[in-house]
Amino acid sequence: MCGIVAYLGKKTVQPILIEGLKRLEYRGYDSAGVAILRDGTIKITKTSGRISVLEDILEPPRKEDTLGIGHTRWATHGKPNTTNAHPHLDYTGKIAVVHNGIIENFATLRKWLEGEGVNFITETDTEVISNLIGYFYCHETNGGNGPGSGQNKFEWAVQRALHEVHGTYGLAILCSDFPGTLIGAKKGSPLILGVGNNEYILASDAAAIVEHTTQAVYLADNEMVTITPEGFSTKTIDNVSVSKVLKEIEFSLEQIELDGFEHHMLKEIFEQPHALETCMGGRLDTRDNKIVLGGVSNYLRELTKTKRIIITACGTAWHAGLVGEFLFENLVRIPTETEYASEFRYRNPVIEVGTVVICISQSGETADTLAAVEQAKERGATVVGIVNAVGSSIARQTDAGIYLHVGPEIGVASTKAFTAQVAVLTMLALELGRRKHISSDQVEFYIKELLKIPDKINKILEQSSNIKKIAQANIDKENWLFLGRGFNYPVALEGALKLKEISYIHAEGLPAAEMKHGPIALITDKMPAVFIATKGPQYDKIMGNIEEVRARGGKTIIVATEGDENISTVADHLISVPDAPELLQPMLTVIPLQLLAYHAAVLRGHDVDKPRNLAKSVTVE
Ligand code: AGP
Repeated sequence: MCGIVAYLGKKTVQPILIEGLKRLEYRGYDSAGVAILRDGTIKITKTSGRISVLEDILEPPRKEDTLGIGHTRWATHGKPNTTNAHPHLDYTGKIAVVHNGIIENFATLRKWLEGEGVNFITETDTEVISNLIGYFYCHETNGGNGPGSGQNKFEWAVQRALHEVHGTYGLAILCSDFPGTLIGAKKGSPLILGVGNNEYILASDAAAIVEHTTQAVYLADNEMVTITPEGFSTKTIDNVSVSKVLKEIEFSLEQIELDGFEHHMLKEIFEQPHALETCMGGRLDTRDNKIVLGGVSNYLRELTKTKRIIITACGTAWHAGLVGEFLFENLVRIPTETEYASEFRYRNPVIEVGTVVICISQSGETADTLAAVEQAKERGATVVGIVNAVGSSIARQTDAGIYLHVGPEIGVASTKAFTAQVAVLTMLALELGRRKHISSDQVEFYIKELLKIPDKINKILEQSSNIKKIAQANIDKENWLFLGRGFNYPVALEGALKLKEISYIHAEGLPAAEMKHGPIALITDKMPAVFIATKGPQYDKIMGNIEEVRARGGKTIIVATEGDENISTVADHLISVPDAPELLQPMLTVIPLQLLAYHAAVLRGHDVDKPRNLAKSVTVE
């Protein structure tokens, strides 16, 4: 997720771009830049680091500069450095682009353009868009289908280029031959046009617009807008005019950043269907029934041949790693163990050459996990990272890696990163299994089931108010238990952590069968027992564990498979989730536990996004 802003009007553009980018910094902040059209040339200033770093290197603004585009980046393709920062010029230097989204076929398009003699200077997918527009701008008679009558070459080149692009984009585009024109285009990423008094501002969301105007045009997918001092025209990328009505922006700045949600955590919980679509986008090959993970493509042989996998991480990432352990042993049949990074780094682990160490970290900056990576490399392991923050310390240290592509996670309590980590581990295990012994039919089955997960999560999110009532009914209980079996045992651990870290209620996650080895002594009606009792090979066993708790007066909150008739007889509170194969269930069964923790924290009046004593990234030991 990145932030784009662009302005055409009568005011000095530079300060407007900078202030707009500051409003969008929550969308991404690893690098930033602006392009200003000045005397027929495009002047670009950009840098790695936050917008304040960009401000320090900018020349003083010029009053006569009134057209420009700006960008604050959350890297998806290419390290967050100055070269990869937006805006991006095309090879002729006439076209400048800022982009929010992911171009899935950028490698194919780049290869074609390079074959046409176009040189690239960055690692980004966005440079493919600027070069594609530049190419068609210079080859407007391309195959005789040049600009339509009365259509300017700039607008036509944008349309022609966007017909080649697969993926998502919110774009703002300049052309040095058209000093009075700004073009925006949208597909799959947000783009709003603010309409002021003879001034126009394009932005990823209204946060960058509301201080200038509350009148806005919301572009739909496959639509574009051409803006000049005389006004604006909206059309499809097929050059079909589209009439748009002006709408009033009613949200406050704070509400806009939260996209109408009360907290970043709740927004990120509800983002998970889209986040997983982005995470899996372009990676599930339904035609050849395989998984495409570019970041590990050079290491698939080591990963397939290794005799041992060690997964290391902290906190929520460790819980995802435990799901990964079960996935690898089930699907790939390679011995796998999951280690707390803080322990792994000090216990003199046995690592043979050829051992694969997978380290998982949302921030890519967790000190213990980074130290574990260094330890593993020193001992000759092949180290693979599963990271969200592109170009982070851990991402840079590993031999290979898979990015989550779920955008910044602002809430301290990790939610969308967990489900994305599990999705990546699932895809990796499927691809390695396919290369060893899993049949194509099995892979096809799991790919189809993975594609259903976002919609299934949406169905669970609809129960948020029901889950809030369950939290309300148990809010006075100071000790909770979370219990699961098999693939849902790590989810029980994750549910307990979520509740602890934001509601400050003590909670413990356990394998359900462990109750009888001691913890069952704790059971009273003052200790809610949260069971994950979905349909699966251990369903009957966990029903037995539920009865053990109830027989001792315990109260049960049960996450069960929708349509399960007999579970309601043993549940004091019931949350139903859609059915799914057991090894895909963690991405579903964790959702009710995230919401339970969230509502409990809000009801207890805590700062959900910044819980006491915690930091989003633990960069110290
Ligand atoms: C999870 O909600 C916590 N914020 C914490 O346990 C976190 O998962 C842990 O610190 C690891 O962070 P990382 O994924 O950025 O390495």
